[in-house]
Amino acid sequence: MPVTALVSAKSCGVTTSALALTLASKRPSLLAECDPAGGTLRAGFLQGEVDAGVGLYHLAAAERTSPDALANAFASHLWALDEAGHRKLLPGLTDPGQAGALGRTWPTLAEVVNVLAEDAGYDVFIDAGRLVLESGRLHTTLTPAPLLHQADMVLLVVRGTEQSLTLARHLIDPLRTELTERGTGMDALGLLLIEEGPYRAHQVTEALKTPVLAALPFEPSTASFFTNGGHPPRGYGRSALLRHARTATEHLEAAASRRKIQQDYPLRPAPSGSAQIAGVLQRLMAKGGKRG
Ligand SMILES: Nc1ncnc2c1ncn2[C@@H]1O[C@H](COP(=O)(O)OP(=O)(O)O)[C@@H](O)[C@H]1O
Ligand SMILES: [Mg+2]
Repeated sequence: MPVTALVSAKSCGVTTSALALTLASKRPSLLAECDPAGGTLRAGFLQGEVDAGVGLYHLAAAERTSPDALANAFASHLWALDEAGHRKLLPGLTDPGQAGALGRTWPTLAEVVNVLAEDAGYDVFIDAGRLVLESGRLHTTLTPAPLLHQADMVLLVVRGTEQSLTLARHLIDPLRTELTERGTGMDALGLLLIEEGPYRAHQVTEALKTPVLAALPFEPSTASFFTNGGHPPRGYGRSALLRHARTATEHLEAAASRRKIQQDYPLRPAPSGSAQIAGVLQRLMAKGGKRG
């Protein structure tokens, strides 16, 4: 299953969309909250339920021991989002000041999530936050660049408003260059449209010269539950946001497999070649993930 990274030009729904996709996927799924500016799900959707002993920062600490230590620690830093443990969350940073310590963590983490996607059939969604550029390239500390390089799909989240499209336009070329030179190719880039504002998907595709690969409705009641937690709104399970998110995961899977068939870039080395990293799968299957 694909690894999909979500980014934005300016806060516009990356975390909400990534959570909706993770909860709606038909397959086991993982949301890795990798926004260097800090995670918002702990204090929001999870209402402080997850203690600070779990999450991304601890993987960085483990990685300083060795890359294998990160792989070994991975399963114990996931939080189960459902009773069965099929939907998992890697909670993000509690302090944006920690981002500087993660430069070495991203490549190993990218490898681990690719193993989950390829060998264990997980739908992996990476919340990569707002993109920060430096001299036209992805900022190496304020953006988890290696995760974007290795993702099967990179989705720039936009709304159908003039403001959102104006800001997003400036990111298209740098992202294409980055994915061409360091990633899996520029066709990894697509748009996720949040349907607010006058612009429809075909107009957004035209305006940004990039395909809208998935669209989610503008639905404040469900989005607010994802952002703030609390009681789910009535009929939440059948909400338009979740229904469209499920369709979106199917579109993303189709787009990723089209790419796999067409791709002419050299395949990345099979991550499962590393016995230690393959051990991630065993540990993950052995436990449903922490909860409560
Ligand atoms: N599909 C949507 N419909 C309505 N409101 C949304 C939607 N997606 C996000 N929002 C709202 O937009 C705000 C920012 O969302 P968030 O996911 O935190 O953005 P980001 O991660 O890009 O900063 C939140 O108030 C959230 O509830
Ligand atoms: Mg966010």
